[in-house]
Amino acid sequence: MKSFILAFGFLFIFYAGYSQKPLAIPHTLEGSTFNLHLRNGSIQFLSGNATATIGINGNLLGPTILLNKGDSVQFSVFNDLDEPTTMHWHGLHVPAKSDGSPHNVIEAHTVWSPRIKVLDQAGTYWYHPHLHGKTAEQVTKGAAGIIIIRDPEESALILPRDYGLDDFPVVIQSRAFDSGNQFVTITAEDHTILINGTIDPSLEVPAQVVRLRVLNGSTNRVYNLGFQGNHPFFQIGSDGGLLETPVNLTRLMLAPGERAELLVNLTGLKDQSIDFYSFGSELPNGIYGAANPGSMGMGTIAGYSSNILNGKNFRLIHLIVKAQTQQPVTTIPANLINLRKPELSQSSVTRTLTLSASGMGMGSLSGPFLINGQSFSMDRVDFSAKMGATEIWQISNQTAIAHPFHVHGLQFYILDIGGNQPAKSLQGRKDVVLVPAMQTVRLLMRFDDFFDPQTPYMFHCHMLSHEDDGMMGQYLVTGTATGIDNITSGDSQEVNIYPNPFKETLTIEFPRIGSDSAMIDLLTSTGQLYLHKIMTTSPYTIDTSTLIPGLYFARITCGDKVLTMKVIR
Ligand code: C2O
Ligand code: CU
Ligand code: CU
Repeated sequence: MKSFILAFGFLFIFYAGYSQKPLAIPHTLEGSTFNLHLRNGSIQFLSGNATATIGINGNLLGPTILLNKGDSVQFSVFNDLDEPTTMHWHGLHVPAKSDGSPHNVIEAHTVWSPRIKVLDQAGTYWYHPHLHGKTAEQVTKGAAGIIIIRDPEESALILPRDYGLDDFPVVIQSRAFDSGNQFVTITAEDHTILINGTIDPSLEVPAQVVRLRVLNGSTNRVYNLGFQGNHPFFQIGSDGGLLETPVNLTRLMLAPGERAELLVNLTGLKDQSIDFYSFGSELPNGIYGAANPGSMGMGTIAGYSSNILNGKNFRLIHLIVKAQTQQPVTTIPANLINLRKPELSQSSVTRTLTLSASGMGMGSLSGPFLINGQSFSMDRVDFSAKMGATEIWQISNQTAIAHPFHVHGLQFYILDIGGNQPAKSLQGRKDVVLVPAMQTVRLLMRFDDFFDPQTPYMFHCHMLSHEDDGMMGQYLVTGTATGIDNITSGDSQEVNIYPNPFKETLTIEFPRIGSDSAMIDLLTSTGQLYLHKIMTTSPYTIDTSTLIPGLYFARITCGDKVLTMKVIR
């Protein structure tokens, strides 16, 4: 109860000057082509000067992108800014060239148009710029949006899914304004919470089970989610989709980059209100947002201890409960989905990634932080993983502050945190894990479907100030022998390769080409990649005049399908 008294006192003092505004709900985009325009804008957040922003198809944040698993979609990202950017599909399993990493730069006033096949499970993902050194600034100004993927498994469950009626996106960001009302990018004085870009919002919700798709889109801050009066809620999804069963909670910690889908049952609360909170007073020290961000009482961050949000409880959304909708969901399902985890016994490589602080040593809280003793370089690939391989990544945090570690290109599973089994909330598909100070986390992951000998995927701390300061590395996924061992020959009806044996040319007919593109790889019988092409038309002829006589495997990858055929020169 003490925490509530504190919290309400705080709200009274600091929000008394504002009247509550309805929570902004981003509009949705769906279909097979998505046009996203990044542009400069402005918003009147405070009295006096308007705040300069970057919006996507608007002044702040971007539309919610609705995708269906299995669809092939075309994004066109128009960079209408006067500076370069990129657009990253955070959490999506896409080829490295389409990932929107720092390598996929979109120069000012140009367009980037990746076509992707949606392979991920139903869940809540997001998109944001990822230009090295500029990520925090561009995201702070407002360039980010939610991606919702739907699939048949999720659709078969009785869950709220009427967007804006019983299913709401909740993007939590903390912001600082300078004396001229402009956003400050790197600062510990982020006193203002924005939810979907709204300060101190209220939201009308029906008196039934309501779904919140919560994204921590903040630069550094960790939230400790919960409801007024410890009203219970259920977590049904983590970063990369649904959990196996709902997890009954009263608190959930959410670090930068992480998502959680929550169900809260408001049946019977009509005409009442209930506040959605961050219970920062309960965050253990060593986490950004706690009373002390360091775990060892060492060091601090300028401006941190005077920030009224640190170590305090504060309201995120004031929920006003109204009448039920036409077909309300009023119960929480007992079971959700079955997860298909990679086999631990299949793992062939264990990699250790050590997080350390440069300069000031272990007690430093402001970095720059390093991974394996190195700062990020665009030109250095840190290691290569083999397509089809399963690996364990052991992330060892030797700093006094927790870091949210993120891996691109896939979803992983957490094996253990500090040697202990992860909480139920953390047993689903994840792409960000908060690695506690001075602890080690082990992750299990498999590199499926895509490889690229040139373009790497990123791994990094998702505290954007740490990332921009170089707490990032990159890995390649290569196609080699391990990959081919795992290839099952697909349905050969779909593809026709001739002549076989071949000589100077090899022609591939793959009628599915049209809306999809496919990768063609020619591998030797020992799995060495000989030739890699993107097929955009059918039939498609490749020049094989330089291949030495012998047995080859022609591998055609189209979305989640891999077809392999033996061909002989
Ligand atoms: Cu959300 Cu590498 O990013
Ligand atoms: Cu990402
Ligand atoms: Cu970090």
